Amino acid sequence: MSVLRTDRLLLRDWRASDLDPWAAMNADPEVRAYFPGVLTREQSAASVAGFQADLDRRGWGWWAVEVAATGEFIGFAGLDPVDEGMPFTGVEAGWRLARPAWGHGYATEAARTVVSHAFESLGPAEVLAVTAAGNLRSRAVMDRLGMTHDPADGFDDPEVPEGPLRRSVVYRLRAGGHRLGGR
Ligand SMILES: CC(C)(COP(=O)(O)OP(=O)(O)OC[C@H]1O[C@@H](n2cnc3c(N)ncnc32)[C@H](O)[C@@H]1OP(=O)(O)O)[C@@H](O)C(=O)NCCC(=O)NCCS
Repeated sequence: MSVLRTDRLLLRDWRASDLDPWAAMNADPEVRAYFPGVLTREQSAASVAGFQADLDRRGWGWWAVEVAATGEFIGFAGLDPVDEGMPFTGVEAGWRLARPAWGHGYATEAARTVVSHAFESLGPAEVLAVTAAGNLRSRAVMDRLGMTHDPADGFDDPEVPEGPLRRSVVYRLRAGGHRLGGR
């Protein structure tokens, strides 16, 4: 079993009961505004199966995120090797929350713990984060973590169809450079 805790959140294995809220958030155009389209329930179910297989196999990956006080599932956060075909390699951190869970600091709180876990348990020289250039909310999470971004690192994501979402940015945080406290 693979669990990370923060002040307010539990990052845990996926449960069958997560599928309904996970599929609902992936069908929300606002949550998917910077991805190429919403997901069907089948696509969401397949993604959960893949996430849990990764967690079972290596003990880290995309964890389900739950509000500890209420048990409410609110989304995911975690780590993954950068996909093949991207113009860089490494370990990336990521986060995606249901719309009602935005604006509470949950993404940054989860991301801090995920990044600390990466440096303490996996030992990469740096952790990356990647998003569409226009995804300012996600970029703000990266800023709050103390990640930095070189405009020369901008790239066209080969996994995204031609269009305004293709232009992407990569943020980097070197080991020892992460901020553990504050907003
Ligand atoms: C990216 C995403 C997770 C960011 O969510 P977010 O709510 O903006 O980020 P946080 O959870 O860190 O919350 C920060 C906000 O909570 C506020 N906040 C409220 N209570 C807080 C608390 N106790 N502690 C910290 N911040 C708090 C902050 O002031 C900040 O508000 P602001 O946006 O008005 O500046 C969310 O927009 C999302 O899921 N988007 C869709 C999926 C996506 O694009 N994922 C990223 C792909 S790379």
